[in-house]
Amino acid sequence: MSESATPDQVVPEGFFDSLEARALSPGWAKKVPQMWPVPRPRFVPAVWRYADARAALDAACAFVSPEQAERRNLIMVNPIADNIYPTCRNLVAAYQLVLPGETARSHRHSPNALRLILDAGADTFTIVNGVQVDVAPGDVVLTPSWHWHGHSNFGSEPAFWIDFLDVPLVQNLECMYFEDHPQRNEPMVSHEPDSPLRHKGVELERGARDAGTLDFASAGLKTIGLQAVGIERAQSRSHDKRIDNNLYTVTRGSVRMTVEELGVVDLVRGDVIAIPCWHAFTIEGLDDWSQLIRVSDEPVMTALGFRELKSA
Ligand SMILES: [Fe+2]
Repeated sequence: MSESATPDQVVPEGFFDSLEARALSPGWAKKVPQMWPVPRPRFVPAVWRYADARAALDAACAFVSPEQAERRNLIMVNPIADNIYPTCRNLVAAYQLVLPGETARSHRHSPNALRLILDAGADTFTIVNGVQVDVAPGDVVLTPSWHWHGHSNFGSEPAFWIDFLDVPLVQNLECMYFEDHPQRNEPMVSHEPDSPLRHKGVELERGARDAGTLDFASAGLKTIGLQAVGIERAQSRSHDKRIDNNLYTVTRGSVRMTVEELGVVDLVRGDVIAIPCWHAFTIEGLDDWSQLIRVSDEPVMTALGFRELKSA
């Protein structure tokens, strides 16, 4: 048929059924659009409360031990239809409890991970590739892809923290690997309280007070961006729509977040908010000094060249 000819408008009988039987679909009659002008996130802004999670984890101690479970944790599942796992598009977060005397066994996996310590006493640590890395409240400890890691609490206080991982990204990329340590608990070969994998809470606070926003661990995890954000009372920080997906945790004081689609919400220490891409938001300080840790997939968007394509 020449380009000027008018095609026959009558679709031969059985044409579409025949396509379907061959796993073909007509691109001129898509059931739903597959491209759109600007990002259209599937996930929604959502909030999780530390107080709720802590009470539930305390209750779970009666019937879940680290012996039974890989980890005693509560996953923050974004509340959209049919979702059973991600907190936002590329990241998952979970509150975890390790009781005094408990050890969460060692394993390694292709997903990158970090933990933000909320409450812990002395003698709580993570073992990363054989190195004992102590943890304290406010610390962020990295376990990059394929590093062995397990957790122990040899102190007298329960240890609560939040795990952040890029598991949803790794699942989408179909590059998941996971392995249990052959000795269950990896033996310790050295002790590094000042390991480069540990970002101490006091240093994060100092940086946030000096600079307002501190990028840290920029070379630590290839897929996850980390910032400590400080904010004074009545100070306000506004962010336009952006391409990255963000999880903010309050680590000091309290803040008021105003988020497109969600509205206004006040957050206190340990609370987490998910802000999917393309949602403008504002953070306002409610205490003399408040601090947040921002966990994002920004390095992924930067590495792939999607970050600067278009702004809102
Ligand atoms: Fe892990």
